[in-house]
Amino acid sequence: MSKAPVRVAVTGAAGQIGYSLLFRIASGEMLGKDQPVILQLLDLPQAQKAVGGVMMELDDCAFPLLAGMIATDDPNVAFKDADVALLVGARPRGPGMERKDLLTENAKIFTVQGAAIGQHASPDCKILVVGNPCNTNAYIAMKTAEKYGRLKSRNFHGMLRLDHNRALSQLAAKSGRPVSSLKNLVVWGNHSPTMYADYRKVTSNGDSVKDLINDETWNRDTFLPTVGKRGAAIIEARGLSSAASAANAAIDHIRDWVLGSNGEWVTMGVPSDGSYGIPEGIIYGFPCTTENGEYKIVQGLEIDEFSRERMTHTLNELLEERDGVKDLLA
Ligand code: NAD
Ligand code: LMR
Repeated sequence: MSKAPVRVAVTGAAGQIGYSLLFRIASGEMLGKDQPVILQLLDLPQAQKAVGGVMMELDDCAFPLLAGMIATDDPNVAFKDADVALLVGARPRGPGMERKDLLTENAKIFTVQGAAIGQHASPDCKILVVGNPCNTNAYIAMKTAEKYGRLKSRNFHGMLRLDHNRALSQLAAKSGRPVSSLKNLVVWGNHSPTMYADYRKVTSNGDSVKDLINDETWNRDTFLPTVGKRGAAIIEARGLSSAASAANAAIDHIRDWVLGSNGEWVTMGVPSDGSYGIPEGIIYGFPCTTENGEYKIVQGLEIDEFSRERMTHTLNELLEERDGVKDLLA
């Protein structure tokens, strides 16, 4: 018997990430090749015509798993009974900007959408915020939704999977080992240049990748800045921010959350439970494992002085961003 469809809300459906994301969701790459989906597409009133065009193309793919779709400019409609919500719709940064420069403009979006999710989404809804600055936007949505007491706060995530994937690629190139062999990577903290891509525990077929590379200067002066500033490098090269790789990371994040990571670590921006001294509620990149639709923060990792300093630096930026949106959440 075929499974009941899962309702997937996607915001910013007419945008460039939306265009890379929707076809892959409808083809079963995110939730499984046996899982029908209903797409609930949100965008601004002026983008509805373009969303209509994307829906025509989705129709033209004749995806067997696409059980329905709607387009709307009303968040209350878009998030109604949503089981998964991908919050992509927000302004992207341009050259010379940092992601936190978007906070004033984008933050309001996440109070409105957090309220709609809090009132209308499925109580088990899994929410991934992609729109930048994604950690703090996820925090805003979570705090706003909490006022309605229906959803699990732990299900509000910010996307650090793109940073995780970027770091994997850099490590594979440097160590000469295939990406598929690399395990136990984490990118701690904020999706911003302060993020800390931690290769200390990474292994490849049981070998320590740090020992294989054996070059701490490369870690400090090349690896960390390359991963941390990759988004800006792409904006510089393309004139637009990353889209296909961002959509791919969103698919990876939700797929692993729903279908399980088979014991492997994945980086997720999740509300801290106090692990590793990160204050509760801050949406912070942690190493997680996932099983049966639930995630757990990997516990018991030793944090050396260098790592602690980096983890505190990125935390301090998140605390500043949180203070910056206090009034919005009052
Ligand atoms: P885009 O400008 O191509 O598309 C954004 C879409 O969102 C547009 O269709 C716009 O109309 C829509 N939108 C704006 N406000 C909205 C609202 N209130 N409700 C619904 N829709 C709304 O941008 P993009 O390249 O798709 O990027 C979207 C966001 O994702 C940006 O903030 C970007 O910085 C961020 N991003 C994050 C990551 C990450 O790793 N976390 C990676 C890449 C991009
Ligand atoms: C990225 O990392 O590519 C995105 O967050 C877009 C950006 O502004 O860098």
